[in-house]
Amino acid sequence: MQEIKITTTLTCYDNIEELPQDVQELMQHAVEARKNAYAPYSNFRVGAALQLENGIVVPGNNQENAAYPSGLCAERVAIFHAGAQYPGVKITQMAITATSDNHINKTPIPPCGSCRQSIAEYEMRQDSDIEIYFMGGEGKIMKSNSLKDLLPLIFDKSYL
Ligand code: THU
Repeated sequence: MQEIKITTTLTCYDNIEELPQDVQELMQHAVEARKNAYAPYSNFRVGAALQLENGIVVPGNNQENAAYPSGLCAERVAIFHAGAQYPGVKITQMAITATSDNHINKTPIPPCGSCRQSIAEYEMRQDSDIEIYFMGGEGKIMKSNSLKDLLPLIFDKSYL
């Protein structure tokens, strides 16, 4: 019997201004996308923006539904759009921002488990890492160099 310890390393930035210029702009796209979220049930708005290697930015936001599970998270709206519209074009970075309409979230809010699994699929598909930056509505930002740092023991196609 043996214990296995899994560690991960993230970078934390104090605010948007501390990010590299190109990432600041990507996060601004995510903030704009957040404003267009359709979130009448949770009042929790999430915006995502993907940087593609060809320079295009793909936005996404959460889309809710009266039948709750029929809605979709911002991250998957964005990544599925990229997969549909720009297959074969690599995603290099992803910026995420999330906040409630009722109070401004100031701690970084990471993607949910289902979104992590979906992002993992795209890293596998393109065979390269996606940098992930996530923020609340404002304040500190966390960065992981790859989805793999957010989801240990990933289930992937190698098991099929
Ligand atoms: N949501 C996202 O868009 N991304 C996440 O990673 C977590 C949750 C959305 C889904 C739902 O519309 C609202 O936030 C509350 O869960």
